[in-house]
Parts: sequence; C-alpha cells; structure tokens
Amino acid sequence: MTALLNIDNYRLDIPTFDGVLKVLDGIDIALEQGDTLGIVGESGCGKTVLARSIMGIGPRNARRVSGHIVFDSTALDELSEADWRRVRGVKISMIFQDPMTYLNPLLTIGRQLFDVITAHYRAQGKPAPAKTDRLARCVRLLEQVQIADTQRVLKSYPHQLSGGMRQRILIAMALAGEPKLLIADEPTTALDVTIQAEILKLLRGLVDRLGLTVVMISHDVGAIAALSRRVAVMYAGTVVEQGTAKSILTRPRHPYTRGLLAALPDIEGDAQPLEAIPGTIPNLINPPSGCRFHPRCPRATAICRQEKPETRSVGADHVVACHHAFD
Ligand SMILES: Nc1ncnc2c1ncn2[C@@H]1O[C@H](COP(=O)(O)OP(=O)(O)OP(=O)(O)O)[C@@H](O)[C@H]1O
Ligand SMILES: [Mg+2]
Repeated sequence: MTALLNIDNYRLDIPTFDGVLKVLDGIDIALEQGDTLGIVGESGCGKTVLARSIMGIGPRNARRVSGHIVFDSTALDELSEADWRRVRGVKISMIFQDPMTYLNPLLTIGRQLFDVITAHYRAQGKPAPAKTDRLARCVRLLEQVQIADTQRVLKSYPHQLSGGMRQRILIAMALAGEPKLLIADEPTTALDVTIQAEILKLLRGLVDRLGLTVVMISHDVGAIAALSRRVAVMYAGTVVEQGTAKSILTRPRHPYTRGLLAALPDIEGDAQPLEAIPGTIPNLINPPSGCRFHPRCPRATAICRQEKPETRSVGADHVVACHHAFD
C-alpha cells in the first residue's frame, strides 16, 4: 500500500540577507490514508515551513535542494500554479493558529463560506449548483463542525464570535472542498484550555467520521497525544524520531525527545522542577556539523560532531536518528 503522503529526503533552503538558511535538512515522512501524524518540536525548528511546503505555500524565495513531496501519487514539487488550484484547499486543506487572520472582518461568515463553496466548484471547472443548494451546504458544513445555531452564525461578522467559534468556522471552510488531507498548524494555541479541548475533540470526531488524514503541528505534546496516532519529533530542520505516539511517548529513544518530554509539567502533580533542555535551537545559516542536536546533547561524543546520524529502526513503526539512542 502506498502512503497518501510521502516526503522523501526533502531539503529546503531559504536565502536571506544574512546567508542561506538550511531550514529543512532531509525530511522523511510517510503517512497512510486515514492516519494522524503529530509534529512536535521547539519554536523555529521548521514545522510551519514544512506544513506550508506540503500546501505549496512555502516561503516564496525558498529553494528545494533535494527530495520530493508526493501526495496521492502526485509529485507536488512539479505542479504548475494552475494544477495547484486543483489540489490546494481541495485535496489538501490547512487551518492555522490565528483564525482571525484568515477571516475577512468586513464580510459575514455566511458570505465567506458561500464564496469558498462557490470557488471550489469553479476551481474544479464544475457548474455551481443553485444558490439555495449552496446555502444548504453552508449549513451542513457548520453542522459538521458542531455549530448548532447556524442561522445566527451565518449572519454574524467574525468579531461577533469567540475564538473557538472562529476556529470551527475555519475548519468548516477547510472541509468545504472535501479534502483528503487536513494540516492543522497549532490550531489550538491561541485558545484557552477548555476551548482547546473542544476543538481537539471536534478534530478527533472528524477523523473518525470522515476518515480524514491529519497532520497536526503543536508544541503541546498533550494536544498531539490526544489526536495523533503517530508522532514525528523535529529538531532544527530534521526529524530526529518518528513512530507511534504510544512508543514515542512511553519509550522515547532520542535524547531530544526525552528532553522535550521531561520539560512537560507532570499531571500527576508531583512537585518536581521542570527539566528544560539547556541551550537554544541553533542558527540554521550555520547549523552544527554532524548531528544538529550535538551542542545541546548530554550524550554527544566525537562522532556526533562529525557524522549526521542515519535514521534507523528501533521497533515496529519507530525510527530514530541518533548515534547514541537510548535502548
Ligand atoms: N519566509 C521566511 N523567510 C526567511 N526565514 C524564514 C521564513 N519563514 C520561516 N523562516 C525561518 O525558518 C525557520 C523555521 O521556521 P518555522 O516557522 O517553520 O518554525 P516553527 O517550527 O513553525 O516554529 P513555531 O513553533 O514558532 O511556529 C526559522 O528560523 C524561521 O525564522
Ligand atoms: Mg510554526
């Protein structure tokens, strides 16, 4: 069975005023249809750049150095802008951290949803159904994201709704093209904790009901664990460890993953000080040689400074890229 999404040795550079950022350094990720992948890692490690690359909306000046992103048997890197219009927002949709940025403050929710639905027909070269049918579709989409008072919401402007409500609406818009893959980039970070839990529950329900394939990005390991069957841990533009959420969270092999998990507050309430990972993420213009994590790693030796570690299997659906991975 071929994966729905296959990212193979993907390397991306971003030329900047100060030099070339080696922002993604050989990313390998495969995701089956209907599966859910969480991507975790510190701020600046390249999660958003990767997500946007899958959507074909990466930084404009970014340069692919090697590798491919293959989705549904199509090499996305080779698509023309015209071809992209049949993929982006249709087969692959994305939701973002701050819903307000992606809603027009001057138009009602109904108008915006209606326009998205109409645009989907146009993008696919299909005649749009009658206006009443498109309006009915707006209502169904809102119901799909568990909005009950659909008529009030359709007449509302974005500022009249709560942050959680706005995120539901963006999810509804993302679903309008019936995508196969939904990418959620920090979808709950801007929301308060109870609303976060509701949005995660909604996404979980959509995965189960619609069989959506989801890539969710978060630096909240709890949110990742609530939604994702699989987890990829990113550090400074590389995937250092990847596998089932169960194996990554219960038996992390990479020192960086261990550090991330140790930095979590203990829900059991033992009053232990948080163990943070010393240091900060490196400058990607001049990343450390060998393993990019070595300057911060408690287990680093000479080989870590010299050789980039190969990604190797350490269990059923569990790989790690480390010269001195934990057993
Ligand atoms: N358009 C751009 N031009 C130049 N550099 C960029 C651009 N977009 C991202 N970067 C750089 O690429 C690196 C990765 O950024 P990215 O936004 O992917 O991180 P992230 O993992 O999503 O972080 P966060 O958790 O804070 O969202 C950073 O060093 C960032 O400064
Ligand atoms: Mg980001």
